[in-house]
Amino acid sequence: MHSLPRRSGTRLLAATPDAISEAAALIRRGGLAAFPTETVYGLGANALDEGAVSEIFATKARPKFNPLIVHLLGLLEAEQIVEFNETAMQLAEAFWPGPLTLVLPRRTSCTLAQLTSAGLDTAAVRAPAHPVARSLLEAAGVPIAAPSANRSGNISPTCAKDVMEELGGRVEIILDGGACSAGLESTIIGFVDGAPVLLRKGAISRSEIEKISGPLRSYARGEITAPGMMRSHYAPSAKMRLNARQVEENEALLAFGPEPLASMGPSLNLSVKGDLKEAATNLFRMLRQLDKTGAHMIAVMPVPDTGLGEAINDRLARAASPRDGE
Ligand code: TXA
Ligand code: MG
Repeated sequence: MHSLPRRSGTRLLAATPDAISEAAALIRRGGLAAFPTETVYGLGANALDEGAVSEIFATKARPKFNPLIVHLLGLLEAEQIVEFNETAMQLAEAFWPGPLTLVLPRRTSCTLAQLTSAGLDTAAVRAPAHPVARSLLEAAGVPIAAPSANRSGNISPTCAKDVMEELGGRVEIILDGGACSAGLESTIIGFVDGAPVLLRKGAISRSEIEKISGPLRSYARGEITAPGMMRSHYAPSAKMRLNARQVEENEALLAFGPEPLASMGPSLNLSVKGDLKEAATNLFRMLRQLDKTGAHMIAVMPVPDTGLGEAINDRLARAASPRDGE
């Protein structure tokens, strides 16, 4: 295994050109740097370096069967490592750079570290839109494997301070590029017999994707290997109660819409206007904030299951799901 010096201090750097070059050099020589994308912050390593990718798993305490997304600049770079079908090509043309991840067969000539795919014969690829992520990719000159920059099972970080909370002392550099605009991870599409399957609901809604791809099949366990779809994920320390119609004493409230429930305790509103895009941007940040109040339970008002609401409800259901061992 790769032996990097144990990182004592983590440096939180404003994402200036100099800091980006430094993070790129670190990644090129096998180190780890966290960086902003338009969805959530990622924990990046050189995707061609088996040892560096292995460090990602160790740093996050991520199970080795759960493969990583490889970030690259665009279609040209992606085509060198995976095989595109026609629908995948159209989706990449429509949504890249942006929050869409495609799971496609690895080319036989593919030089990605085996660990990125966790032993599967496919790889997940995405071209991020965030200017800091793009500058980092350009400066590094290698594809960057990057899961969300949280400890495995925790809430994904949507600002640099959240990354510090999750991985402070375990990563050398965190590039601070402000708050993430989407706030939810990328939408993941895979293929079964050439037909597109929605593997993870995310920052691009089902209907937007379907305008390009035609009807998406929903992910059915067993039909395709999607090892990362754990039932419990994004878990706060507090328990969660979904579709709340009232708030009990000692509960925190995560409200949605213009008529929040009456509550005595801490409360935040995902979107007073009832706007799902705004709610998506706020979701992980507000979950973290409410969790910090020490409330034993977070009551969550219903969120409509349309558009981005589908992805929001997916994250809420996982956050509310019993943890392993409970
Ligand atoms: O928005 C995002 O996608 C963020 C930012 C940093 O780009 N990244 C992210 O990575 O959410 P992560 O590791 O938290 O989630 C990656 C998901 C996991 O559910 C994993 O199982 C799935 O992608 N995945 C990766 N490669 C796969 C493959 N070959 N087949 C099926 N699923 C795959
Ligand atoms: Mg994640």
